[in-house]
Amino acid sequence: MENQIHITYGITAFEDLHIELTEKQYSSVFILVDSNTKSFCLDRFFKYCPIKVNAVLNMAAGEENKNLKTCEKLWHDLSEHGADRNSVLINLGGGVVTDLGGFVACTFKRGIDFYNIPTTLLAMVDASVGGKTGIDLGPLKNQIGIIREPENVIVDAAWLNTLPYEELRSGFAEMLKHGLIANPSYWDSLKSLTQLTPQRVENFIKPSIEEKTKVVLVDPHEKGLRKILNFGHTLGHAIESYYLTHTKKPRLLHGEAIAIGMILEAYLATHCSGLAKILAEEIKKTFVTFFPKVIISTTDQNGILELLRHDKKNKAGRINFVLLKAIGVPHIDVEVPQALFSKAFEFYHST
Ligand code: GLY
Repeated sequence: MENQIHITYGITAFEDLHIELTEKQYSSVFILVDSNTKSFCLDRFFKYCPIKVNAVLNMAAGEENKNLKTCEKLWHDLSEHGADRNSVLINLGGGVVTDLGGFVACTFKRGIDFYNIPTTLLAMVDASVGGKTGIDLGPLKNQIGIIREPENVIVDAAWLNTLPYEELRSGFAEMLKHGLIANPSYWDSLKSLTQLTPQRVENFIKPSIEEKTKVVLVDPHEKGLRKILNFGHTLGHAIESYYLTHTKKPRLLHGEAIAIGMILEAYLATHCSGLAKILAEEIKKTFVTFFPKVIISTTDQNGILELLRHDKKNKAGRINFVLLKAIGVPHIDVEVPQALFSKAFEFYHST
């Protein structure tokens, strides 16, 4: 049902999931994994949720596989295994698996139920919650998709022990974002963390999800308030797309790109939405503590700005930003003079 978000936490949630799946009497059960979650997470899933599945569906790991070709393969897999409208798909993985698996489920036979079991911090605090499903169109992120809530999201921080540090940090960027747009004291607690480890971030996961769900419940289809969740993403997505297609350049994870986006957009906010310079400096200082700086040349900046034209928040060719007025006070639909972009990159590069 629309406007309901179900999330269960911890190891006991798997037992409840097993009961729920059994009670719902699905005609067939499928689980989607990528090459990472197949190796590192699937056995543990079956240990705690010993459900009989009709097939394990596989996809290659990585943002570059979040496309229509992968969906087509999975639709064929479901069809060949006799999936019908009363089948269910369980997405076990990070944001690529939950976004793409959700989209495959929403479109197969016009929609079958799906569950998300996020295994990365990013998917726990952001991607798997709030009903956004979708795939990329060439280098452009999440251009095709549907908004529909999963039946349930099972969040278990124990998966984080399977993650490389960079992935943990990538999810941490979204947590910092939730503090910046909605909760100054949460921002303060996160920014004073001296070290990122699964144990240190564990207790901050639920509050982060709660900040997001509060917003999504008010505006599930992003007509207004939900846009605040895109803070840092206008430039962040363009940076991510640019680095994804320029394969000789360093690979940037989603959180790494939006961390840069948040610093750039903090600078823009000092000119366009009244953010105090000292707060923009605080934002920059916090992100660069966790995320090493990337040198973005003028050529790269121009390529990134070209990609901004495709941002989903654009209306009638206007590029709209979510900018902060203060910590916890976002403004949506702010137009930014083009001349400020190069100054924002200067601000990012300066120490
Ligand atoms: N990741 C932003 C949103 O779910 O709206």
